[in-house]
Amino acid sequence: AAAKGMRLGSCFAWSEPGADRGSFANPAYARLLKRDCGLLVPENEMKWQALRPSATTFDFARFDAMMAWADANALPVRGHNLLWHQPKWMPKWEESHDFGATPARAAEQLLVRHITTVCQRYGTRIRSYDVVNEAVTPADGTLYTTALSRAFGSPEATLDLAFHTARTAAPHAQLVYNDYMSWEPGNAQHRAGVLKLLEGFKARGVPVDALGVQSHLVTQGTDTRATIAALEGEWRRFIDAITAMGYAIVITELDVRDNNLPAEVAARDQGVADFTRGYLDLMFAYPALKDVLLWGMTDRYSWIEGFEPRKDKARRRPCPYDAAFAAKPMHAAIAAAFTGA
Ligand code: G3I
Repeated sequence: AAAKGMRLGSCFAWSEPGADRGSFANPAYARLLKRDCGLLVPENEMKWQALRPSATTFDFARFDAMMAWADANALPVRGHNLLWHQPKWMPKWEESHDFGATPARAAEQLLVRHITTVCQRYGTRIRSYDVVNEAVTPADGTLYTTALSRAFGSPEATLDLAFHTARTAAPHAQLVYNDYMSWEPGNAQHRAGVLKLLEGFKARGVPVDALGVQSHLVTQGTDTRATIAALEGEWRRFIDAITAMGYAIVITELDVRDNNLPAEVAARDQGVADFTRGYLDLMFAYPALKDVLLWGMTDRYSWIEGFEPRKDKARRRPCPYDAAFAAKPMHAAIAAAFTGA
């Protein structure tokens, strides 16, 4: 990746001492991060749910520990995220928060204080932020509303405020809108909603630098070439439209759900590797893409296992290393995509 002027990264996590998690404190996981990564991102610890026990307090203990480890190992960290604009992912207290007699002013203060406090705390140590995460409803492309956005006036204005505030508080940083619209069938409304949002940001002069393309991929069968031939036209039109507006692209959360493949491990791993390679080859044709982050290095800690277990109960294999930390074909496929081998 470095030879190509790019970076490969992964999410990492905090954990209770001795717990088995994808944490910097887990020596086996730390080894993988140090060996393969040029960039890290916290899986959960920078979210409002983690940092904001209440409307008036912050708890930076976990994320500070992660930043300290990353700094000690000279690994840059990107921020995820400053506003996950869905009721489900805001802290519980937010939905019942009393915005008082001047709700727009109170909402503005709450959001500006959050973003400014986080950005100022980490300063130039963080050079890229997912300022807003997943604000578009996949089914119809409209924006979610939250108690915060209803108090402030509209979801558009709330997202705009988040980006303007981040630009002021972290003028050095790349500001990213991050979402999971993907190339698999059934995502056309989601992609259209994201496109409309990014067009709106441009039209209103909102400081957004890049689209975070999460890339939680789902294999569609063993014939990777046929799958990609079926998907790539619409996908390229989408990425072309984004880059034509001047946005950079970041692959922020790559992993692969091994669906529609034979159950045998070798065949599943090969299917995942081929799909990853095909996707990266297509994406690497865009010079606007510099950073590729995995949503976890090993199958052992992947969120997919809890989110969508396989019907046959076999362990999911979405990451480049298996649950015993052995490199899988996906690892070789990523390396080959970078070197063009
Ligand atoms: O840490 C608590 C633990 O103390 C508690 O006992 C346990 C009981 O549920 O919950 C633990 O918190 C969980 C946390 O993961 C840490 O494991 C939360 O319930 C759970 O909701 C949370 O899930 C995370 C999810 O985002 C929601 O924040 C996943 O780990 C994380 O991989 C996932 O990441 C998201 C990105 O942020 C945005 N894009 C999609 C991606 C995958 O869903």
